[in-house]
Amino acid sequence: MDGSCKPVEGASKKATDAPFYLAQGDECALFEAASANNLPMLLKGPTGCGKTRFVSHMAARLNRPLYTVACHDDLSAADLIGRYLLKGGETVWVDGPLTRAVREGAICYLDEVVEARKDVTVVLHPLTDDRRILPIDRTGEELEAAPGFMLVASYNPGYQNILKTLKPSTRQRFVAAEFDFPPPDLETDIVARESGLDSARVRSLVRLAVKLRALKGQDLEEGVSTRLIVYAATLIAQGMPVERAVEAAMIEPLTDDADIKRGLLDLVVAIFG
Ligand SMILES: Nc1ncnc2c1ncn2[C@@H]1O[C@H](COP(=O)(O)OP(=O)(O)OP(=O)(O)O)[C@@H](O)[C@H]1O
Ligand SMILES: [Mg+2]
Repeated sequence: MDGSCKPVEGASKKATDAPFYLAQGDECALFEAASANNLPMLLKGPTGCGKTRFVSHMAARLNRPLYTVACHDDLSAADLIGRYLLKGGETVWVDGPLTRAVREGAICYLDEVVEARKDVTVVLHPLTDDRRILPIDRTGEELEAAPGFMLVASYNPGYQNILKTLKPSTRQRFVAAEFDFPPPDLETDIVARESGLDSARVRSLVRLAVKLRALKGQDLEEGVSTRLIVYAATLIAQGMPVERAVEAAMIEPLTDDADIKRGLLDLVVAIFG
């Protein structure tokens, strides 16, 4: 867990071209090893902690196209695989994002995969074991994944109800990594870099975030995300007064309860007042 994230050997794209991502541990090495060995990867962690940024960063470093699908309970297997469409009076087959990734050797990223119905996740099974095939019933094709194809899925284990978990037969097809909010020093660096606000002022925002996160499970359903600290810092860097920016970006998004909000604002005054 050294936080380093060195460029991939042989990758034609420089790591500096990749979206900024500050590693918390060995997740970059784990992703590279999984990718090199055709293993799919599952990222677990709270909202706004860097999962999506991590995947975009790794896709750029490995010089692979990235197809992202936001999963929801209306998503059908055809949305992933493809369908026949009428084009200029002709019926043509149009690949879905998963099929495109399989053909091109790209990374397919299924965000919030627990939201997908079971009949959708089952489509992933032959792709995520050593067969690496995608049967397309409608065309009769059985596609073998091109070299470089990688399936990445993510979800937030926190706020889903108990019924919305992955089946063991699905989850046990992935190498998994748990993400969490970074330790304060790292998070300060991330937010300063993302917002352009100076580190001293960012540090106070991060201190507040740590205090707000301690309220998770009591007054708050979820802790304040790195994303929201970036928002607050961005508003402050634009010249907005600190307390107003913090209220808008770090308090209002967390709760609708007036009493809880008042309590949280007292915490803000204690830190910045
Ligand atoms: N390690 C990191 N390096 C760089 N930026 C980060 C990092 N962690 C978080 N961020 C910042 O936080 C923002 C939110 O991260 P991201 O969108 O990746 O969260 P997520 O885990 O995918 O959340 P969700 O589950 O809601 O989709 C990013 O846009 C980026 O500004
Ligand atoms: Mg995301």
